Amino acid sequence: MTRKKIVAGNWKMNLVADEAIALVNAISQLQQTNSAVELMFFPPALYIQSLKHTTLKVGAQNFHPAEKGAFTGELSINQLKDVGASIVLIGHSERRELFFESNSFLKEKVDAAIAHNMPIIFCCGEPLSIRDAGNALEFVTQQLTESLFHLSPAQLVNVTIAYEPIWAIGTGKTATVEEAEAMHKGIRNAIQAHYQSSETAASISILYGGSCNPSNAAELFACPNVDGGLIGGAALDATSFIAIANAF
Ligand code: PGA
Repeated sequence: MTRKKIVAGNWKMNLVADEAIALVNAISQLQQTNSAVELMFFPPALYIQSLKHTTLKVGAQNFHPAEKGAFTGELSINQLKDVGASIVLIGHSERRELFFESNSFLKEKVDAAIAHNMPIIFCCGEPLSIRDAGNALEFVTQQLTESLFHLSPAQLVNVTIAYEPIWAIGTGKTATVEEAEAMHKGIRNAIQAHYQSSETAASISILYGGSCNPSNAAELFACPNVDGGLIGGAALDATSFIAIANAF
């Protein structure tokens, strides 16, 4: 079973309109050597509409699971679809930690996205204290169990998982190749155990995120269970982003 290879840029709360357009134009002008790698980016939501005419897939960093209503400051999936978003991020550790999004709230987001046929990148990952205590896989498995594993196998095909150890995000500290591969394999085993299907487990792309850059991408992407990357800081530079995509 060949899984999709994906390199996704999470721009977070960076760039103003001119910079966002310049970055996308610069990315489009660079040569992607492996056309099998799907490129996508998640700009601030208010720029999605002006960036959607690119060859890259454009996604939303956040949304509210309700259809509509009294949720001041929030955006619905329909609104994001309307301006051109074709994939959503769910469960980024910054949403979990800074905006207190719980596993049960993330489950609501997963259900809303599935109901709208909106593909998902579902992020998971442990804090350093949990890793140091030796409980990283158990912690991540619980995140997946409480927010994702209620989906049917047919629904799960809309999901890409991104493993992002919190201690590696924006810190310059990357998981070692061994740590990344062990966790990705553990996640795949958890899917297999839950769904009782090696085919389902083999079909889900699992991306690595956390200080992934042009110097470490090749060794991470060479791991059998690492199917690409969710890139923060290095996605804000066109040359670095394409160099990461070309590391496959
Ligand atoms: P980073 O961020 O690449 O800057 O560590 C990754 C992410 O938060 O998705």
